[in-house]
Amino acid sequence: MGFPVPDPYVWDESFKVFYDDLDNQHKQLFQGLFSMGANPGSQAALDNAYAVLNSHFLFEEAAMQVAKYAGYPPHKKAHDDFLAEVHGKSVPLDAGFVNYTKDWLVQHIKTIDFKYKGKL
Ligand SMILES: [Fe+2]
Ligand SMILES: [Fe+2]
Repeated sequence: MGFPVPDPYVWDESFKVFYDDLDNQHKQLFQGLFSMGANPGSQAALDNAYAVLNSHFLFEEAAMQVAKYAGYPPHKKAHDDFLAEVHGKSVPLDAGFVNYTKDWLVQHIKTIDFKYKGKL
């Protein structure tokens, strides 16, 4: 269901939101989740994935607020709910969770983030 998850897990132009800073951050998120999945026993990889997600979400939320973007409240909630799921995890991560996070990011960018294209 939903959009296909790239394999290998690398950002491509189909994920473009056409804001360079946000697109670059999305590339970092793919890298962070790729590393997390490649090193499921690594606390550092999990911590890094959480950190890049958190900082991207804060940046994206600020951009939406500055633009008075109407879709902000549910978008913010989607970020918060996902971060809470990642925060509750400890290593070693199971493959099911890793795959869930990879799919979540793909679907989130292409359905939720794409709604702000041209509006920020
Ligand atoms: Fe988002
Ligand atoms: Fe995003």
